Amino acid sequence: MAKLWCSLCVITILELSHVAISRREQVPTPPLPVLPLPTFSQLKWQQRELIMFLHFGVNTFTDSEWGTGKENPAIFNPSGLDTTQWVTVAAEAGISLMILTAKHHDGFCLWPSKYTDHSVISSPWKNGRGDVVHEFVKAVEAAGLDAGLYLSPWDRHDRRYGHDLEYNEYYLAQLQELLTQYGSVNEIWFDGAKGKNAKNMSYYFTDWFAMARELQGSINIFSDAGPDVRWVGNEHGFAGNTSWSTINSTLLSIGNGSIIDYLNTGDPEGTNWLPAECDVSIRKGWFWHKSESPKKLSQLLEIYYNSVGRNCVMLLNVPPNTTGLISKPDVHRLKQFRTAIDTIFGVDLAENSPVKASSQRGGRGGGFGPENVLDDDHIWTYWSPSEDGNGDHWIEMRVPNGGTGFNVVRIQEPIGLGQRIVRHGIYVDGKKLVEGTTVGYKRLHRLGEVIHGGDVRIIIKESKGLPLISSVGLHFDPYWKPDRHLIF
Ligand SMILES: *[C@@H]1O[C@H](CO)[C@@H](O)[C@H](O)[C@H]1NC(C)=O
Ligand SMILES: *[C@@H]1O[C@H](CO)[C@@H](O)[C@H](O)[C@H]1NC(C)=O
Ligand SMILES: *[C@@H]1O[C@H](CO)[C@@H](O)[C@H](O)[C@H]1NC(C)=O
Ligand SMILES: *[C@@H]1O[C@H](CO)[C@@H](O)[C@H](O)[C@H]1NC(C)=O
Ligand SMILES: *[C@@H]1O[C@H](CO)[C@@H](O)[C@H](O)[C@H]1NC(C)=O
Repeated sequence: MAKLWCSLCVITILELSHVAISRREQVPTPPLPVLPLPTFSQLKWQQRELIMFLHFGVNTFTDSEWGTGKENPAIFNPSGLDTTQWVTVAAEAGISLMILTAKHHDGFCLWPSKYTDHSVISSPWKNGRGDVVHEFVKAVEAAGLDAGLYLSPWDRHDRRYGHDLEYNEYYLAQLQELLTQYGSVNEIWFDGAKGKNAKNMSYYFTDWFAMARELQGSINIFSDAGPDVRWVGNEHGFAGNTSWSTINSTLLSIGNGSIIDYLNTGDPEGTNWLPAECDVSIRKGWFWHKSESPKKLSQLLEIYYNSVGRNCVMLLNVPPNTTGLISKPDVHRLKQFRTAIDTIFGVDLAENSPVKASSQRGGRGGGFGPENVLDDDHIWTYWSPSEDGNGDHWIEMRVPNGGTGFNVVRIQEPIGLGQRIVRHGIYVDGKKLVEGTTVGYKRLHRLGEVIHGGDVRIIIKESKGLPLISSVGLHFDPYWKPDRHLIF
C-alpha cells in the first residue's frame, strides 16, 4: 500500500514538474551577449547623449586659451557669478551632466585647495572665501543634474611639475579633495593636452584611476585611453563613419598622436568597451572671448549628427564669461539647438506603422518581435531574429503616403548585449536609399531626398552574432539641406 501510494506520488510529482518545466520552456530567453559589454555607468553615460563642458578660470579674464601659469590670481574676479544660471541653461537644453574645469593648464584652482595658494583663496572674488566648485555642484544637485570635473594633468604654475614623485603626490592630493568634498562626481576628465616645450614627466595614471574608482564607485573616467570613456581623436566633434564602442586598450596611450584614427573608429575586434566622447566648443575657443560668437545652428546640428548620430556622446563646451554667466548669444543658440532636436525627433513616422521581420526569436508572442523597435525602450526591448533564420536578417515598416515624409532614419542597437552590426542598408520599395557600417547605441542617416511613404526595409548584411535592433525612427529634418557644404 505504501509502495503504491509512493509510486503514485512520484508519478504525480513527475507530471507536475514536467508541466512546470515545459511552461517555463515556452518563454524564450535573450540571446547570448556579444562581449565586451558596457558597465552600468557606461550605459547610463551613453544615454545622456549631450554633456556640457564649462571652461572657466584665469584665461576667461586674460582673453587666452592656454594660460602661462604666471597669472596673478587677483585677475579672477567675476562680478556676477551665478552657477544656477549655468545649470538652468543646461537643463533647458536637455543636458543632464555638466563638467567644470576645476583646474586648467595654468594651474589656477577654482576651489580653495589646501595644497596651493594659486587659487580662489588669493583672488578678490568673495574676499578669497569663494569656492566655484562648491557653488557649481550645489546648483547642479539642486536641479537634479549630475556633476563632472576636469583636473588638468599639465600644470604650468606649480613648481612640482616635472618632478615625478612630488607632482604626482600633489595631483593625487588634489584629486582626493575634489572627489571627497563635493558629493557625487559622475565623470572625471584627464586631458592629454600638453605644450611641446612642457617639462617631461610621467603621470602615475594607474594610481590616479585607482583613486578615482575607489572614491567614486560609479564615476566614468575619461582620458585619451579610457578606462571608461575614450577621446574621439579630434576637437571638432566628429566620430568616424564607422564607430565602434569597442577597442583594444593595450594599443592606447595618452597624448599619442599616432592613434588618432584608431580612436576615431574603434575596433570591431576590440576587447574593451570604451566608447568615444566628442568634445567640441560652441565657440571657436574653449574659454570665453569677447571677440567670438557661437557657432551657427546648422553647424551644431552637423556636429550632433556626426557624434550622437554615430554612436557617441557630444560634449559641448559653453564657456561662462567674465561676469560669471553664460552669454546671451550662447543661451539663445542652445535654445534653438534644443528646439531643432525636438522638432526633428519629436515626430516619428514609423510610430504606428505595421512592421514585420525576416524571422523572430521564439516565434509570435515570444517577446522579441519587430514591434519592439517602435516602443519607447531603447535598451531592454528589441527585435531579435531567430537563430536559424536563413539569408539576410531584415525588418520592414509600411509607411503610408502623405504628411511631411521623412529624410532621417534612426537605428539603435540594444548595446547592453554588445555592439553587433557591421554593415547594413536601408531600402524603400526595393530601392536602395543608403548603406552604412556600424550602428551602436544610435545611428542617424540623413537622406539625399525626402521619402513620402512606402515599404521601408532595413537589411543587416553583416553582424557579430545575431543582429538585434532596439529602435527605429523615421523623422523629418526641416533644417537639412543635402547640397549645403558647411565650413568649420
Ligand atoms: C621623458 O621621461 C621618461 C621617463 O620619465 C623617459 O623615458 C623619456 O625618454 C623622456 N623623454 C624625453 C623627450 O626626454
Ligand atoms: C603610440 O601608439 C603606438 C600604437 O599603439 C605605439 O606603437 C607607440 O609605442 C605609442 N607611442 C608612445 C609614445 O606611447
Ligand atoms: C584587438 O585584439 C583582438 C583580440 O586579441 C585582435 O583579434 C585584434 O586584431 C586586435 N586589434 C588590433 C587592431 O590589433
Ligand atoms: C555675460 O553674459 C550675461 C548674459 O547672460 C550678460 O548679461 C553679461 O553682460 C555678459 N558679460 C560680458 C562681460 O559680456
Ligand atoms: C559612410 O560609409 C558609407 C559606406 O559604408 C558610404 O556609403 C558613405 O558615403 C560614407 N559617408 C561619409 C560621409 O563618408
